[in-house]
This record gives sequence, C-alpha cells and structure tokens, in this order.
Amino acid sequence: MTHKIIIDTDPGIDDAMAIFYAALHPDIDIVGMTSVFGNVTAEIAARNAIVLAERVGQTIPVAKGAAKPMVMEPNGVSDYVHGVEGFGTMPAQPITGKPVDEPAHEFICRMIHEHPNEIILCPIGPLTNIAMALEHDPTIAAKTKAVYIMGGGLNKGNVTEYAEANIWNDPHAADAVFAASWDITMVGLDVTTLVQCVPADFERLAASTPTIGGFLNEAVQFYMDFYASHYGKRGCDMHDPTAIIAITDPQYFTIETHALEVIVDGARIGQTLRSTDPSRPKHKVPMDVDAEGVKQRFLSMIETGF
Ligand code: RIB
Ligand code: CA
Repeated sequence: MTHKIIIDTDPGIDDAMAIFYAALHPDIDIVGMTSVFGNVTAEIAARNAIVLAERVGQTIPVAKGAAKPMVMEPNGVSDYVHGVEGFGTMPAQPITGKPVDEPAHEFICRMIHEHPNEIILCPIGPLTNIAMALEHDPTIAAKTKAVYIMGGGLNKGNVTEYAEANIWNDPHAADAVFAASWDITMVGLDVTTLVQCVPADFERLAASTPTIGGFLNEAVQFYMDFYASHYGKRGCDMHDPTAIIAITDPQYFTIETHALEVIVDGARIGQTLRSTDPSRPKHKVPMDVDAEGVKQRFLSMIETGF
C-alpha cells in the first residue's frame, strides 16, 4: 500500500532525516511539503524544504506557510539547536526550484479534496498551517486519512519542563488540531526521546550514501554538539523520523488512546494533557517504542539512498 503524505515541516536537522526517510521509502509518496516557522524562519523553512526535495532528486511541490503563531507572539527560532540556516553550520544551500504559488493551508485543503480519504498529514513543526487549514475549511477533517504529529508528550517536555517545542511554538494551533475529529497519532517525546543515534550511525550513513548520508552527517554535528552540551553525551533524539516511521511500521509502537488538550498560557504553556472534556475526540498516543527497531529501520532506509 502506498501512503500519500504531506509533510508540514520547519527544516531543521531531524526534519531532514524524516524527509529523506520518507522520500526513499518505496511505500511513501510525498505529494507535497508545506513549510512553517519554527526551527528557522518561514523564509528559510521554505527554502530548506526545496533543498531537501532537490537533494533526493524528487519533484515535490513546496507550499510556503505561516511565519508566526496564530495568536501569541513568536518564541523565536531554534538556531542554537539547528544552526542559523537550519542545517547545522552549513551555509544556505543553492536551489533551482521555488515554492508553488499557493499558501500552505490552501494547498493542504485542495490536496485533501482532490484525494479524499487518501492523504496523511505529517506535521513535524508547529501546527499553525494545520490549524489554519482546519479554520479555512473544517470539512477537511472528515476527508483526511490520518494525521501523524511529531509533537507533545504526556510525561515530559524539552523546551520547558512541561512543553515540547512544536506545541510550545503555537499552543493555540495545537489545541485546535487536537479538538478536531480526525484520526490523529501524536508521536511525542514519550517515544521520540527513546530513539537515539550516535556519531558512528551517521558515519556509517556517510560512508554508504554520500549524497544523503553525507549531508546528514555534516548537518548533525551541530545538533549533536547541542545534545552533548545539554545532556552530556554525543548523540541525538530522532524526533521527526520517528513520527514518519510510525506510519510505515506501527508494530514498533505501544499505543494508548486519549482525548488531548494543550495549555495555552501560564507557566505550563505548551503542555499536552489528557483531556477530561467529554466533547473531545480520542486520539492515538504512542507511549512506548521498540527504539532499536525504529533506529535500524531509519538507518537501513537511508543506506538505500544515493
Ligand atoms: O521537539 C522536537 C521537535 O522540535 C522536532 O520537530 C524538531 O525539529 C523541532 O521542530
Ligand atoms: Ca521539526
């Protein structure tokens, strides 16, 4: 079965890992990418999505999306994690293409209507574009096959004790997305922090696939510097690729179902919680993972690259 996916992304080093995995997977068809502020500005995110599509040699439409959250002021980019241009210390990469002439939220709505019950949305950045698409046309919820979100976490945060970065960067958008009745899997920190790679993994990829693995190995050095300085060990969490692998390899995940809501102000802003509101739909939340299985799936898929 081929999964038709739209990746909504703020590339971003782990976004690059996720996009390469999806692009190389024989059962995934990336029918579009939409860019969003987050790790980098909206301008750089759109450019970087094109960089990644061109690096895998695929013609993937990229629609430029939100430059700021729906309600609150922006928190600012994560250049200390992903680098000023989003791929570690790499300078801005050359591109030949440009974004399509359609805003991200309209692109998402149009694609869902053109492919009813076929599109899987994969937001791996702040949920602004997805919430804007829902606001623009609430009927998309019933026509979307599934939504796989990298974001949140029921037991831990990363940017604060309580909040994960993608949710924290636009909590109002995230809360609106979780309130909608569609088939969401929230792949959060409960599992993504268990899937980790170390320098030797990326060296292996660089040796076997210079164009893809070499790019990742170069970009990831800065990302691993961040992890080394904060967590005392050189390696990194595989957040965004884990969300895509949950689509292709659900057997690795132990999934609970919970209604979800997001705290939108105060000290716990951005925290994802189990909701007791009976009007809220239940969503899938992976709470445990075969981390080694997911990691090897990622490494072997990138090794098939070029
Ligand atoms: O918290 C991890 C998430 O925040 C990932 O999507 C990463 O790329 C950043 O956007
Ligand atoms: Ca991301």
